[in-house]
Formats: sequence, C-alpha cells, structure tokens
Amino acid sequence: CMRACARATPLASATSARGGGKNSRAGTTKTRAMATVTVKEVATTPIEGQKTGTSGLRKKAAVFSEGNYLANWVQSLFSALPRDDVEGSSMVLGGDGRWFNKEASQIILKLAAGNGVKKMYVGRDGYLCTPAASAVIRAREAVGGFIMSASHNPGGPTEDWGIKFNYSSGEPAPEKITDAIYGFTQTVDTLKMADIPDVDLSVCGVTKFGDFEVEVIDPVDDYLKLLKQVFDFDLIKSLLTRADFKMQFDAMHAITGAYAKPIFVDVLGADANSVVNGVPKEDFAGGHPDPNLTYAEELVKVMYSADAPDFGAASDGDGDRNMILGNNFFVTPSDSVAIIAANAVDCIPYFKSGLKGLARSMPTAAALDRVAAGLGVECFETPTGWKFFGNLMDAGRLSVCGEESFGTGADHVREKDGPWAVLAWLSILAYRNEDVPVGGEKVGVEQITKEHWAKYGRNFFSRYDYEGCESDPCNAMVESLRAKAAAAKKGDKYGDYELDFADDFEYTDPIDGSVAKKQGVRFVFTDGSRFIFRLSGTGSSGATVRMYIEQYEADPAKQGADAQDALAPLIAIALETSQLAKFTGRESPTVIT
Ligand code: G1P
Ligand code: ZN
Repeated sequence: CMRACARATPLASATSARGGGKNSRAGTTKTRAMATVTVKEVATTPIEGQKTGTSGLRKKAAVFSEGNYLANWVQSLFSALPRDDVEGSSMVLGGDGRWFNKEASQIILKLAAGNGVKKMYVGRDGYLCTPAASAVIRAREAVGGFIMSASHNPGGPTEDWGIKFNYSSGEPAPEKITDAIYGFTQTVDTLKMADIPDVDLSVCGVTKFGDFEVEVIDPVDDYLKLLKQVFDFDLIKSLLTRADFKMQFDAMHAITGAYAKPIFVDVLGADANSVVNGVPKEDFAGGHPDPNLTYAEELVKVMYSADAPDFGAASDGDGDRNMILGNNFFVTPSDSVAIIAANAVDCIPYFKSGLKGLARSMPTAAALDRVAAGLGVECFETPTGWKFFGNLMDAGRLSVCGEESFGTGADHVREKDGPWAVLAWLSILAYRNEDVPVGGEKVGVEQITKEHWAKYGRNFFSRYDYEGCESDPCNAMVESLRAKAAAAKKGDKYGDYELDFADDFEYTDPIDGSVAKKQGVRFVFTDGSRFIFRLSGTGSSGATVRMYIEQYEADPAKQGADAQDALAPLIAIALETSQLAKFTGRESPTVIT
C-alpha cells in the first residue's frame, strides 16, 4: 500500500566500513557496508486519532501494523523535531519484544535514514527495557530514542502495541513535542523512506548504508554498567549468595527476562531458579504483564505460601514497573518508594552524599512526604505520568520518586526503573542483614516496612480500577465530580470526615512554568485522608476509571489492619459522591490494588 513517488534523493555516497561495533558477547560483532542510500518519497494520507496519551501512542497491534499507521506517526515525529535534532544526529531504538516490534524496527530505521538521522543504536533483537533505553540515550549522548512498547498491556496480534519517544536526557518527550507530533499527523502526506534493506538485528555490530549507520548493541551492557555505579554490587551479592536467602523474580514472559538472568544470576550470584518466566515472548505467553496482585498471581501465590521465599518481585512488559513482596507480605508502591528513600543514603552508594529532593505523583499516597519532612528535603507533588519528574531531575532537585502505579525510580535515568527498585530493596535487605549470621533471625521485608510505619505512620492506600468502561458516561461522571468539587466548601461533612478542600488537580512546573490542568478530581479531608478520581490516559480503547483512596494512621496499634477494612468507610463515601455505579453500570472494580 505504499506508493513511491518519482523523486528519489541521493542521501550519501557509499562509505567503507570502519572498525567493528563496540560489543560484548564474544564473537557476535560484525561490520557491513552498503552502497549509496536513496530516499523514496512515499505518498500517504493522514490518519485520525494519533494523539499520544500518558505514555506514548497506544492502539491495538492490528491498527498499528496496518498500512502507514506507524510510518505516519514516526514521519510526523521527525517533522515535529527541530531539524538540528534530526539531521546528522544519533538516536536509539528498542522495545519490550512484543509482536510487531521486529517489523516496526525496520520501518523506523528506514524513516530515520530517510529523514537524515546519521546513526541508530538498536538493542539486539530490538530489545531494550524502558529504563535501559533511557540509560542508552544518556550514555551514547543520543538526541532521543524510540521505545516500542505498550508497557503492561497484553501483546500479540489481537492485543496492544505502542510507541513512545524519549528525549535527550532520556526522558519521555514533553507535551510540547507530543502535541507538535499530533499536529503533523493531521497533515502528513509524504513519508521519507530510505531505500535500504532490512537490517539483521539479531547480531551485535555496525551496518553502514552510505552515511547512515545502524549499530546493534547488547541491550544489557550500558544499563548494567550504570547500575554498578549506583549500587554496591558486592553488598547485594553477599545477600543473594546466602544459603538462607531465597528470592523469586517474575519477568512475566516480558522484557526483563533478558535482564534478570545476566544481572541477578550471572553477576550477582542468585540461584538460577530465582528467575521465573524469564524468556521474553512476543505475546507474553498470553498474559497481562502488569506486576500487581491481580495479574502477577503466579508470584503472589508463591509469596503467600507456607515456604515462601524471603523476597519476591515482578516487573512489567517493558521493565519500568515493579512489585515488591516479602514472605507473605505485600509492600504498596507508595510505601516502597518511601522506604527506599528513607534508607537510600545508608544502603545505596549513589545517594551517599544525601538526597536532593523527593517527588510523587498526586494520587500516590503521601508516605514519601513524611520521609522528606524527616530528611529535611523538598517533596514535589506532580501529575500522573513519569514525564513530570524529568525537569526536576535535570534541575538537580530530585533524587528519588515514585507513583502508586508500581513505578519507582531515581535520577540515574529519566524513566521509572523496575530492576533498579528490586536492587534498591535488595540493598536495604543486604545492609540490614550484613551482621546476621547464616541461619540467624533475618530482617525481612515485613519487618522493615512495619518499622517504617512505626516511625512515620502508615498511609493506608488502595486503588480501584474499572477497566473497559464506555467513554461517554465516564466523562460525564468526571464532569459531575468537577462540579461537585467546585461547589464543595471547607468544613462540609462526608460521614465522619470533614472536607479541607476539593479541586481538579492543576500543576505548575517549578522549572519551566508549564501548566498541566485537569489532572484528577480530589476531595481532601482535614485529617489528610483523600479520595481521587481520574480517567486513565494509557488505554487503547474505551475508558478506565481510577479511584484512589488514602487514609493516614499514626497509631502503631491500628497500623496492622487490612487496608480494605481500614479504608471501607472512605471507599463508600467516594462511591456515593461519584455515583460511579449509576454512571458506569459497574458494581465492582476489575482490579484492586
Ligand atoms: C498509568 C498510571 C501512571 C503511569 C502510567 C504509565 O497511567 O496510572 O501512574 O505513569 O500508567 O505507566 P494512566 O493509565 O492512569 O493514565
Ligand atoms: Zn511499563
């Protein structure tokens, strides 16, 4: 369905190959030179609805793989970027290994060459987990990079596909860029495709086509090098090689499988059986690679069994999310980031000179705020989505941050980082158990968490997701909540709770002054309890309602309660205020975390 126009522009003359590609895994490097590259101008017509959401553009894989759907968006991106960012630049390409990534890689490479990019670094087999892509962009000083992933959404021909573009410090492209891309998707009429053959992505090395070159790199190397600078690998190894310590990492048949064995097993000495579902599959073996209590049920079952390992963790499709479990114990992501932050200076060399600041997305429970107060550092409350942390990191005001949606990370890269969170927890466990003799009474995840609550208080938190709803009634519900928030007054009573304020969250970026509006309707009570409603921005069809409930408990005697029990009265108030059942027709959520 692509039609080549008459004009073909010579891109460059043939060059001879220089040296071998930088590469690790022995015997896999190759260098190949091809003749002159010509650029075909292929006619296309705009396709509706190519607007990026919370995290890139996501649609059904069948939509993306049809006609010029992907090519139109990628061409629009090249048109939207400043010429200097494209012409003669280097960029990175990788993804989570899902179905269509291989074909998509070839389309992106041809468009990159056709638009004047000089060099593309591609993870072998098209693999790069999201935090590794961020690390590669930074390490190679690339202008940006493409990440082919729909994150935790299922993959395969009938499931989801997605693409996002990260900019030069490795951060998700700002709205200014994504809006500009969207603008170009509405008028795009020509695709600049280099007339080059498909590149073999299964072997590391450099392939040249005239002035354009593709370097296939090991997907683990740059990232592992960075992690070794962040963490004390010897300390972690001392834990993972203990005869009385057992961990289970569940890669959920997704991309972190390609990282877990090299990092946890080969370098850190964990038992080979510690990694499960560790071979990436194009359809994630039919699973939903989202590390939460619902979808990571295999791991949850093991961790809640009689002879559960000491530590359990899982990561999502593209490796930016994480879930942390102890023996018969679950750590909420809001607690996890707070606990990591509280222990970072002692346990993680990267932070030994102190934390610059902390940040969480607005719906994330405020446990982190209490750590920030304790440490005497700034704490920022940003809208949902990792892209809002980047400016703060670049400005040197943010070290550790997180979201309730199983995202945790730091300023070593500009993405949330699943393996990093696992290594952070292993560092804390290793540090706390350094002097505990083998066979002795180890300090576990549960004890660390409970000690944290005793010191800072516990923020009970739960999120209810209502997936696959119809869009119109959900929008109507949010409209009605906005109106209720606007009409609500301080002192209004909601059951036993007294309103402090209600609004639709708005954020002004302290670095560049940009404003993000309508980021979630929140009702905040005088004791700090809150409920929040917002619609998901990452779905590929329909609407997902997210309801977030939080309540603070300072009394250690009451901190052991089950979160659902502790939050039940507030949940009832939130459901009543929103009239969720009436609007959506849903009596119960599809996922509770
Ligand atoms: C969800 C999460 C959000 C996260 C994003 C990308 O977005 O809620 O915290 O940053 O996925 O992983 P949502 O679907 O809510 O827009
Ligand atoms: Zn993800």
